[in-house]
Amino acid sequence: MPESALSLETALSELEARARERIAAAAEPEELEAVRVEALGRKGTLAQISRQLAGLPAAERARIGRLLNSVKQELEQRLAARQAEFEQRALEARLEAEWLDLTRPAPGPRRGSLHPITQLQREIEDLFVSLGFTVLDGPEVETEYHNFDALNIPPDHPARDVQDTFWLEDGHLLRTHTSPVQVRGMERLRPPLRMIAPGRVFRNEEVDASHEHTFYQLEGMMIDREVSIAHLVYFMKTLLNHVFRREASVRLRPGYFPFVEPGFELDLECLVCGGRGCPVCKQSGWVEMLGCGLVHPNVLRTSGIDPRQWMGFAFGLGLTRLAMMRYGLDDIRLMQSGDLRFLRQF
Ligand code: DAH
Repeated sequence: MPESALSLETALSELEARARERIAAAAEPEELEAVRVEALGRKGTLAQISRQLAGLPAAERARIGRLLNSVKQELEQRLAARQAEFEQRALEARLEAEWLDLTRPAPGPRRGSLHPITQLQREIEDLFVSLGFTVLDGPEVETEYHNFDALNIPPDHPARDVQDTFWLEDGHLLRTHTSPVQVRGMERLRPPLRMIAPGRVFRNEEVDASHEHTFYQLEGMMIDREVSIAHLVYFMKTLLNHVFRREASVRLRPGYFPFVEPGFELDLECLVCGGRGCPVCKQSGWVEMLGCGLVHPNVLRTSGIDPRQWMGFAFGLGLTRLAMMRYGLDDIRLMQSGDLRFLRQF
């Protein structure tokens, strides 16, 4: 039965209205595609209507044909526009998800830091270099001569005892202090001379919170025509002011070291209590800092320096202990633990 133009017109406008609605309501691209297939596909509604045009008189056929084409174009445009909207939305979602702040600093690898003893050592080296001192290095495996004999330490001195000294089978030893570098300095540099020697030293000690078998010292020596205890005190105060970044009060007490005469223990007024007395200074108001004195004539003579023409001061300071005081550490074993939780704090 040939369709009337009117019913085809109605069918077209119904198709158009319904398809428009569904296009507008589509929530995702798949729904759009379904509308396209149903309305515009080869077996879709529009195709069915188009086949029925043949039954119409020529004039009607042309009119309905044009109408059909305009409905088709209209729906295609709407589908394309909606499709573009979906694509735009998908792109925006992706950009949002993959958003990168290119101006943000990169995290980068974690940087290591210098060991607190190394930091302290370098600071003290810089200070003494600025005061005209040379920084010397000496061997950790030493001769008995440099570690003891040349320093006027007699053969029966308790420091040579196996209990303190790590002796090697070939008669060498692990240096028990940095003082042998004084001897090596005097052998190499002619007076007047100013030198310091930081380094690792070893003693056969039972390890506990305040004793280690391996620790660091810093040795110093100045030899000139006229060197007095006043020079010694000046350099020691300068050193301690620099390390603790405040005016240090010091005092000298007599102390015995075979390589100096007179020899002293130098105390620093307790930085914790300001000298009033506290557990850190054992209520005395003072903490022992270093050994020092005027270089013994035997020591100068042994290294070929004439004690009638030259004199000097020397000092030896516990770098490890100084670092512990500066950072308020109460366990020396942390220093060599290699524990990153400790090291990362510096
Ligand atoms: N060598 C000594 C020690 O390890 C420290 C020392 C004391 C060094 C007096 C010196 C000094 O140069 O004059 O205990």
